[in-house]
Amino acid sequence: MSFGNKMYVSALVFCIVISVARCSGNLGFPPGFKLGVATASYQVEGAWNVSDKGESIWDRLLHTQPSLSADGSNGDVACDSYHLWRRDIEMAVELGVDMYRFSISWPRLLPSGFANYVSEDGKRYYNNLIDGLLEKGIEPVVTLYHWDLPQYLQDLGGWANPLIVDWFADYARVAYTLFGDRIKTWLTLNEPLIICDGGYNKLWAPYLDDLKVAAFLCNKNVMMAHAKAYRMYDEEFRPLYQGKVSFPNIFFWFEPETPADAEAAVLTRQMWHDRYAHPVFSQAGGWPPELEKVLLANGKREGYPYPRLPPFTQEEINYVKGTYDFYALNHYTTRLVRRVKPGEAGSWIFYGSEEINVAIVNDPSWTTAVTDWFAINPTGLRKQLHWINSTYGISDILITENGLPTFEKDLLDVNRITYIRSYLEQILLAINDGINVMGYTAWSLMDNFEWLAGYTVKYGLYDVDFTSPNRTRTPRESARYFSNLTKTRTLTDDNIYYLRNVTKNTKALKTLAIMEC
Ligand SMILES: *[C@@H]1O[C@H](CO)[C@@H](O)[C@H](O)[C@H]1NC(C)=O
Ligand SMILES: *[C@@H]1O[C@H](CO)[C@@H](O)[C@H](O)[C@H]1NC(C)=O
Ligand SMILES: *[C@@H]1O[C@H](CO)[C@@H](O)[C@H](O)[C@H]1NC(C)=O
Ligand SMILES: *[C@@H]1O[C@H](CO)[C@@H](O)[C@H](O)[C@H]1NC(C)=O
Repeated sequence: MSFGNKMYVSALVFCIVISVARCSGNLGFPPGFKLGVATASYQVEGAWNVSDKGESIWDRLLHTQPSLSADGSNGDVACDSYHLWRRDIEMAVELGVDMYRFSISWPRLLPSGFANYVSEDGKRYYNNLIDGLLEKGIEPVVTLYHWDLPQYLQDLGGWANPLIVDWFADYARVAYTLFGDRIKTWLTLNEPLIICDGGYNKLWAPYLDDLKVAAFLCNKNVMMAHAKAYRMYDEEFRPLYQGKVSFPNIFFWFEPETPADAEAAVLTRQMWHDRYAHPVFSQAGGWPPELEKVLLANGKREGYPYPRLPPFTQEEINYVKGTYDFYALNHYTTRLVRRVKPGEAGSWIFYGSEEINVAIVNDPSWTTAVTDWFAINPTGLRKQLHWINSTYGISDILITENGLPTFEKDLLDVNRITYIRSYLEQILLAINDGINVMGYTAWSLMDNFEWLAGYTVKYGLYDVDFTSPNRTRTPRESARYFSNLTKTRTLTDDNIYYLRNVTKNTKALKTLAIMEC
């Protein structure tokens, strides 16, 4: 072999070593990064009327107006996790996850909605689930409220009634007292945007149409309720149990369509993100100031004698501000934002485009899943993580939801693997940038009742056979992927080569192309 060839061989070896280092060295998650899966009570538990469980707003809505859900279905049985929780734990074990995020059903634990009476059956159910997970070394992460409000509290005004701040705090105290010795991560209210802007926009229960007033009353009350539950934990339970408390915010990343739309994007984030974050996470506290001004001016013009977005007193600002131990983020998708063009209606699924004169659109280059609403743009997540850090000065972030919806009952769900892998890659890049992303819970452990989409939309790593009385769970390919991931804790290239071989799907290949190093 000539000298020249030796040079060539060593250069080749060098290149391979470098690219292996680049592709695998940086692809490992740091020690302490936790992987998990998530569900929510109404979406999986079923057993809506067992024992002494109270009625929830979802029970009422879909029993009285069954046609509202896409397939006429409801959560009466759902995945029957009330009976099949042992199997759920077994699946979490198969996946090798560090944590399982689930929610407590308020009316299952407190049938009347109030803390006057605690259901023994509800207590037993959640104790079994928590202890079963801990026995397997899986950390239970508990959401207190994932949208199944006791119907009786709704009859009293629900989240539009400021008394709910105390009702929720009473419920939180019961949960902290019963389970606080074993729960180290509490999430108070899941996606408060959905509770208020969804619930009063006929998108989610209670399916009311009262955006101009009730949704904004709700907005203040959810912030106060979270703060009260946080402060109670901080003062009474943290000294005993040293847990952490936050709440998951949702879910869109908003990007200006052109640099000229930067201001529109700021207002848009304030409308659909900061209205539920600024009071808690900002240094100043209170409502996002630019948006508060716009809404006040709009209300005045419409002749309302009071601000529709109820102002916080200085005392309330201080009470709500800083009530978090980390930032919890549910992230799925990205939207582009621009000022509405003359004559254009700036409509969007959530109310408010017309309040701030913005149009919310998709970038045509993005792939979409299920419908247009779900645009796949993994880099949006990394940008959002940076934005949270730079806007609120918070680097400790837990991704509490991320996942791909599909219509197909497909066990070879390559699209879901590529989605999860490509979003995890952006998380890893953010971690390497210096953002402390603490963990990731995939939505969802299994197919479940997807609100008004019924059972038509699937998010599961496990398929669930909703026609079988056993609600048989079958792992999809994504479940195998996830259990590989929890073992290797890296986004290895093997996965890419594997995916290339199993998919002929062009959408998936397009996503794969972005993933390769
Ligand atoms: C519970 O609800 C189901 C319908 O989901 C009904 O068939 C059953 O009779 C109810 N059980 C009780 C005890 O009310
Ligand atoms: C996070 O934000 C702080 C405050 O703005 C900034 O100093 C820091 O560089 C940011 N971290 C990263 C990784 O960008
Ligand atoms: C349901 O599970 C039971 C007990 O494991 C089993 O005997 C039965 O065959 C299953 N039925 C169906 C339809 O899968
Ligand atoms: C899981 O890992 C095994 C062993 O490395 C590999 O053969 C298989 O293709 C992987 N499966 C997925 C879905 O990543």
